[in-house]
Amino acid sequence: MPSFSQLLIIGGSGFLGWHLVKAAAAQYDVSWTHCQHALTIAASPDAYRLDIQQPDEIRAVIEQVEPEVIVHTAAMTNADLCETHRSLAHSLNVSGTRNVAECAEEVGATLIYISTDLVFDGLHGNYRERSATKPVNYYGETKLAGERVVKEVMSKYLIARVALMYGNGNGVHGCFTDWMRDGLQHGREVTLFIDQYRTPLYVNDAAQAILELAEKSPENETYHLGGGERLNRYEFGQKFCQIFGYDPKHLRAVAMNDIPSLVPRGADCSLNSHKAQKLLSFTLSDVANGLEKMKRGL
Ligand SMILES: NC(=O)c1ccc[n+]([C@@H]2O[C@H](COP(=O)([O-])OP(=O)(O)OC[C@H]3O[C@@H](n4cnc5c(N)ncnc54)[C@H](OP(=O)(O)O)[C@@H]3O)[C@@H](O)[C@H]2O)c1
Repeated sequence: MPSFSQLLIIGGSGFLGWHLVKAAAAQYDVSWTHCQHALTIAASPDAYRLDIQQPDEIRAVIEQVEPEVIVHTAAMTNADLCETHRSLAHSLNVSGTRNVAECAEEVGATLIYISTDLVFDGLHGNYRERSATKPVNYYGETKLAGERVVKEVMSKYLIARVALMYGNGNGVHGCFTDWMRDGLQHGREVTLFIDQYRTPLYVNDAAQAILELAEKSPENETYHLGGGERLNRYEFGQKFCQIFGYDPKHLRAVAMNDIPSLVPRGADCSLNSHKAQKLLSFTLSDVANGLEKMKRGL
């Protein structure tokens, strides 16, 4: 029996948000928002347009929906764009989060803020919730600043730091597996880092875990949500080829130093998710299982 019924997902048109809305629709009275992409989700028609830079727009939606729990997934998520468009990244990821938090606090809602593994510098890996944060790029800085805003403004919150996610996109927002699949389908070389380690998380596991934490967690906790396996991007590509039937000869292993990049990225931002796993009713998938579920659309 759910402990709340009215749920608002801000950023429901995004990659994670779209899966969250669909996962939540069976259990909750779900409303969700989009900004530039007015998608439709048959199971959950209650959609609103808002810009998180406009407090009045957020307030109007919250007044109408009267949510008990708000999941804030909206963000500027492209790390390259965050680096080159810092003012916009700050406006969305920090000020926008403040706007959402202040409006949520006004109505006494619980806010679930979606953060990232990129709040860590990637020098050690296997990060726990209490590990020292030290973002190495501006995207990570803004997401960490968003966490601080949430803690400062909200009486009731949860923070879920999710790892690099994969899964089927919604036609507008997707993930790096879309890029890999496109390259492999067209016989292009797909270059993947052999020295960049993550704990990739299947997006439907992320959605289910966030909803379960909303029910089961005490207030004001931070959780890490990573997949059941630490591996590098090249190893991920190999498993992707194996499960989806692509020829791995198109994969090329490269070192991060081989490819000049504007944006620094941590080498090993793997997350230790034991704290969340203890509360969850299911095991966070390893990559093979996650990709199998993705293939079957589960
Ligand atoms: N994807 C990952 O691998 C990953 C990893 C770690 C953490 N995260 C975090 O998880 C969350 C979701 O990421 P995602 O990849 O699912 O995001 P995404 O696909 O890039 O979607 C971003 C969402 O934000 C909305 N949005 C953008 N600007 C907005 C604005 N001004 N006002 C209102 N909404 C706005 C977009 O709406 P429209 O498209 O309608 O404009 C969309 O719904 C983010 O907080 C991200 O930092 C993601």
